[in-house]
Amino acid sequence: MARDKRLIRGIQTKAVHAGEEPDSVTGASAPNIVMSSTFVVKEPQAFSASGRDPNTPYVYSRWANPTVQQLQEKLASLEEAERCICFASGMAATSALLFSLLQPGDELVISDTNYPGTAELARQSLPRLGVNVVPIDTSYLPNVENAVSSKTRLVWIETPANPILRLCDIAAIADIAHDAGSELAVDSTFASPIATRPLTMGADYVVHSLTKYIGGHGDAMGGAVLGSGTSMDLIESEGLIHFGGTISPFNAWLIQRGIATLPLRMEAHQRNAMAVASFLEKHQRVEAVLYPGLPSHPQHDLASKQMDNYSGMVSIRVSDGEVLAKKLARELKVFHYAVSLGHFRSLIYWISTEELVSSSYHIEGTQLDAYRSIAGDGVFRMSIGLEDPDDLCADIDQALSE
Ligand SMILES: Cc1ncc(COP(=O)(O)O)c(C=O)c1O
Repeated sequence: MARDKRLIRGIQTKAVHAGEEPDSVTGASAPNIVMSSTFVVKEPQAFSASGRDPNTPYVYSRWANPTVQQLQEKLASLEEAERCICFASGMAATSALLFSLLQPGDELVISDTNYPGTAELARQSLPRLGVNVVPIDTSYLPNVENAVSSKTRLVWIETPANPILRLCDIAAIADIAHDAGSELAVDSTFASPIATRPLTMGADYVVHSLTKYIGGHGDAMGGAVLGSGTSMDLIESEGLIHFGGTISPFNAWLIQRGIATLPLRMEAHQRNAMAVASFLEKHQRVEAVLYPGLPSHPQHDLASKQMDNYSGMVSIRVSDGEVLAKKLARELKVFHYAVSLGHFRSLIYWISTEELVSSSYHIEGTQLDAYRSIAGDGVFRMSIGLEDPDDLCADIDQALSE
């Protein structure tokens, strides 16, 4: 018997129960994994997804799969979204959204500080297809007001942004985008739905790399786009079914399993990040600590307004970062010197400003000066995990010592 969904209200209850039902045949309490690529249908069905019968939800797993469907329902519930479409990675989700919505001649106004994969896609691939890309510092609202026009199809922000933890005011930017007849997409990977639910603040789309906090265990790649309306149909028919970046049901199952502990993990990530950030703020080797939870963060007030949790990402600026990176990679004992983030294990990585600017970021002149005033030659980006914070502080302290 289906349970009463009205009682699945709180975010912790949603993380555990949304999208799931005990198996109707066996009574299994934990979700099954349906790995089948194809499904036996009772009546002959169309051979193309465009002729799908809504009463036959499962025909072929690139179109739809029951395990992926459970994950989509759980994520939609957490983000308070009408619909969720999952993909094989965060970049598959990002490219499905951008390539499904944007046409030649459209304008994309995009934050000049993004995950480098997104920045490279915007800088290298979209202009080739005739999309005019306008990178600006979206943390400063007058920039957004000046950049957005009737030609703007979409505004893209990432908040907090990789790797300098810069924030954007989602509600204010949604208003500016809508006044110009445009839409707003938010990459909310660093925040997770526990910290921020951009659709409730006026955004039209939310994008996640599920590989990070949402999966949380560093063992499954995935991505998601959430939103409502007919554009989501296009993102499904074109971005998912034609482009084909389908998530494996096994990864969907692992990520769904990870979500049950997401609210508790985010609490612990925040607690540990605060302890490490406060320790490093007093460390003589550290020039600056960037963490939205610290009162010293220039947008701490916006973080407190728009985030229910400051998340676990901390970046630090030190002198000689390039040289120090080699030492840290050799000498850290608890942190893993590795890319990625949002796992239960602490990760650290040197992100050089020169490399970002030459290979992906599209910033120059005063925008570059502003970026350099925050990041200098680069930052160590830390994804603070679930270990004992004293051990994390001791590890970084020993590796920073002469
Ligand atoms: C903010 C952000 N968005 C998107 C992505 C891309 O996600 P994936 O690696 O799952 O493709 C990343 C990856 O690090 C990221 O940090």
